[in-house]
Amino acid sequence: MKSMVITIDGPAGAGKTTVSRFLAKKLGYSYLDTGALYRAVALEVQQNTISVEDDNALENLCRNLHLNFINQNGCFHLICNGKDITDDIRTPEITMMASTISARSVVRGALLDLQRQMIQDKPVVAEGRDMGTVVFPNADVKFFLDASLTTRALRRYEELKSNSGQYLNVSLDEVKQQMQKRDENDQSRAIAPLRPAEDAIKIDATNLTAGQVVDVMMQHINRHLKI
Ligand code: DC
Repeated sequence: MKSMVITIDGPAGAGKTTVSRFLAKKLGYSYLDTGALYRAVALEVQQNTISVEDDNALENLCRNLHLNFINQNGCFHLICNGKDITDDIRTPEITMMASTISARSVVRGALLDLQRQMIQDKPVVAEGRDMGTVVFPNADVKFFLDASLTTRALRRYEELKSNSGQYLNVSLDEVKQQMQKRDENDQSRAIAPLRPAEDAIKIDATNLTAGQVVDVMMQHINRHLKI
């Protein structure tokens, strides 16, 4: 029997990660964070001072990247060429760089195969920007999770504040501007831009908690499974 593939696409800060992890745990499925893979490429680009326009160097870099996720007591760690880069890929610089390099076709091509290999016929919840449109077009249930820019920026700001406490050196307004810039990059790129698949179920999470979003998703999944 074919394994279930559930895709969750949407802009930054819509709550995809929280909801995807929750859903994967609830269903006993694997979880695939594809944004982390783009972030890993961005980190290598930064560390090796490669130009984001140098396709040969990018292709070479991607060919030599060995990426895999490990689940340590429910926490997902990304290992790149033997090194745990989980924390290194979450800086604001890498966030913007990931958006920039994700527009390059050599990078997208390299990661396309990797993403498909990574699920290895296992049931999975895959989150990203092009899961339902490009990477897993035959997914069983596709979701597109969105929320207003103000809500998404506020949530991201609160998250940053709780992680860095008094050392937070960015304002809510700056978070909002960066998020808007990233949305524009991700939506306007020529290859695999951020958009809902035609058969995606759209959920507006502006006024919903993560738990409520998961409940809505479970109703659709159960309908699909005919439970
Ligand atoms: O989900 P995230 O914030 O970790 O993603 C970082 C960047 O990676 C995002 O701005 C665009 C890119 N990305 C992509 O182009 N396609 C995906 N499937 C996932 C992420």
